Parts: sequence; C-alpha cells; structure tokens
Amino acid sequence: MTFNPGSKQLSGIKAAIFVLALVPLARMVWLTYSGQLVEPLEFITRGTGDWTLRLLCLTLLVTPLRRLTGMNWLNRLRRMLGVFAFFYAFLHFMTFLWFDHFFDVVAMFRDVAKRPFILVGFTAFVLLIPLALTSTNGMMKRLGGKRWMWLHRLIYIIAPLGILHFWWMRAGKSNFTEPFIFGVIVAVLLGARVYWSFFGSKQKQKQKAAQASGG
Ligand code: HEM
Repeated sequence: MTFNPGSKQLSGIKAAIFVLALVPLARMVWLTYSGQLVEPLEFITRGTGDWTLRLLCLTLLVTPLRRLTGMNWLNRLRRMLGVFAFFYAFLHFMTFLWFDHFFDVVAMFRDVAKRPFILVGFTAFVLLIPLALTSTNGMMKRLGGKRWMWLHRLIYIIAPLGILHFWWMRAGKSNFTEPFIFGVIVAVLLGARVYWSFFGSKQKQKQKAAQASGG
C-alpha cells in the first residue's frame, strides 16, 4: 500500500520542506556572523552553489520517484523544490556580483566572458529565470499546459550545465570526486526519463495495435 497523505498532512510535509530548505542559508548566515569562518566569502559562494545543485537534483528526482512508487502526490512538492533551487542560484549569483565585483555589472560581465566555467554557470542561471517566472498557476494557465511543459524542459539543459560548471571549476584543482558523483546522479535522473519516453511509448503503441486487432 502506498502512502497517500491527506491535505492537512501534505501541508505539513510542505511546511517541513520549506523550513528544511532554509536551514543551509541560516547555517551560512550564522557561521559568517559568529566569525567562525576563515574564508566566509568562499564558503558562501560554494555553499550556495552546492545547494543550487542539490535542489536541482531533488527537483529532478520527483518524477522518477513518483513513477516508481505510484505516489502521485509527490508532484505537488516539485514546484517548491524548483523555486528553492532558483532561490539558492540567485543567492549564488548575488554573492558573486556583490563580493567579487561590488555590484559593478560591467566588470561582472567582463569576468563572465573571460572565465568559461563562470559563463556556463551564468547561462544555467539565465535559463532558470523563465522557469522561476512561470512557476505560478496563473502563468501555467496563460501559457497553456503544452507550451509550459516545453519551456520547463529547459531543466534538462540547466542541470548538465550546472555539472559542467562544477566540473570546470574543479578542473583547476584536479578534484573531480563531487562533480563526478553529481554527474552520475543527473545522468541517471535524465536517463530514466529518456528510457521511459522511449520504452513507454513503444508499450503504448503495442497496446494500441493489440486493441486495433481486437486482441
Ligand atoms: C544553475 C546555476 C549554477 C549552479 C548549479 C552552480 C553550482 C556551483 C557549484 C556546485 C559550485 C562549487 C561549489 C563547491 O566547490 O563546493 C560553484 C562554484 C562557483 N560558482 Fe556556480 N553555479 C551556478 C551558477 C553560477 C553563476 C550564475 C555564477 C556567476 C555568474 C557562478 C559562479 C561561481 C563561482 C565564482 C564559484 C566559486 C569558484 C571558487 O570558489 O573558486 N555560478 N557553483
């Protein structure tokens, strides 16, 4: 039997995720203000980058988990996870703009153009913006389901760009363990979708053919 929460339980689960998703930010603020960090700026830039990637992976995990368990209510958590991924990406970008460039946008763009790993991260962030802007029910209605779905498939480009950005950043230090682990996670989560869209549609075609021949 699958777990199927009532509306009150679902609200409780959503509230718990909301609080949990803010814990990393609270920890970063606390450690910075209590003076426990040697390199606070580096810690915040990396911490917000890490949490952007983790939340992107959690957002991508919802659909395979729902398919494998039959727990359709999981879909109702996806939007919140995606919005939090954008929230951390925004903080990550703002720390870069603030601490690295003191809000000098021109200098920031010069830096983005000069350093390929930042250009890749920046592209991923820019692609996340339309997804965040269209995450409301109203925007979903205005765009229409099909167009909304096509737009939100940008996540399939954003996640690999996030991995490439991480990989490239670590290339200078020849430390690939974490980018490799995240790369495998993203490959499995996206690969599962490709598998299902290919074999799922073959299954459907077979069923249709069997129905048409009276089988
Ligand atoms: C979806 C978008 C993005 C994701 C998923 C992402 C992810 C990450 C990750 C995982 C790290 C490494 C953290 C670590 O070492 O533990 C990182 C570092 C970094 N990212 Fe991003 N990032 C994104 C966008 C951006 C953007 C828009 C910028 C700036 C324009 C940026 C600039 C940086 C910088 C400067 C570092 C730190 C480099 C260092 O400390 O040497 N990233 N990012």
